[in-house]
Amino acid sequence: MKITYLGHSGFVVECCENALAIDPFISGNPLAQTSVDKIKVQDILLTHGHGDHLGDAIEIAKKNEATITAIFEIANYCSTQFVKTIGMNMGGKIKYDWGSSILTPATHSSALPNGNYAGVAGAYVIDICGYKIYHAGDTGLHYDMKMVKEVYTPDIALLPIGGHFTMDIDDAVIAAHWLGVDHVIPMHYNTFDPIKADPNEFAQKIKDKLDISCTILEPGKSLTLKSLCTTTKV
Ligand code: NI
Ligand code: MN
Repeated sequence: MKITYLGHSGFVVECCENALAIDPFISGNPLAQTSVDKIKVQDILLTHGHGDHLGDAIEIAKKNEATITAIFEIANYCSTQFVKTIGMNMGGKIKYDWGSSILTPATHSSALPNGNYAGVAGAYVIDICGYKIYHAGDTGLHYDMKMVKEVYTPDIALLPIGGHFTMDIDDAVIAAHWLGVDHVIPMHYNTFDPIKADPNEFAQKIKDKLDISCTILEPGKSLTLKSLCTTTKV
């Protein structure tokens, strides 16, 4: 399984010839190292409607004939842009060829880029390749992370550390603890001035306080983990 960081909160996860993107924000991201044309996925998952998360999802969906999974209101909006969608809501579990996703709470606002209502912001537990990946979306620290640990038992957490609009480094360390994961990847930092943060400080605090793995990914770089899925390949 390969997790590639697109920058900001964007990732591509590949496993067994399947690929999905989460919050692909590329063309507007000054730190992005890839281009929209290079993203090859069959599914796109969106945590909320803000422009730095909805990002290039619609263009990528059109180019790949990919399906956008999002909360009902965002899925409806994407449908008006003539892309395939799966509209879901909190606690819903969607099954795909590659696994499943569950939408769980985040403490954050949401709106579409045009200001229209976009439901509430969420986070995902993504089951793929024998791993459960938690993408926190944009969020402050919240107790539902303990629920996520108890009920969904994620292995890897993608956590915002930039502060200002989300958790900062110290709260993200607590989040990692509450989620019970054994591997974290920081996100949502340094893209813009208000969210400047040092990922090495986060990695050090994770090491000191939790002794779990922390991988800092530069935009464009990947983490490859042994595939635990039963159907071969990376
Ligand atoms: Ni946001
Ligand atoms: Mn954001």
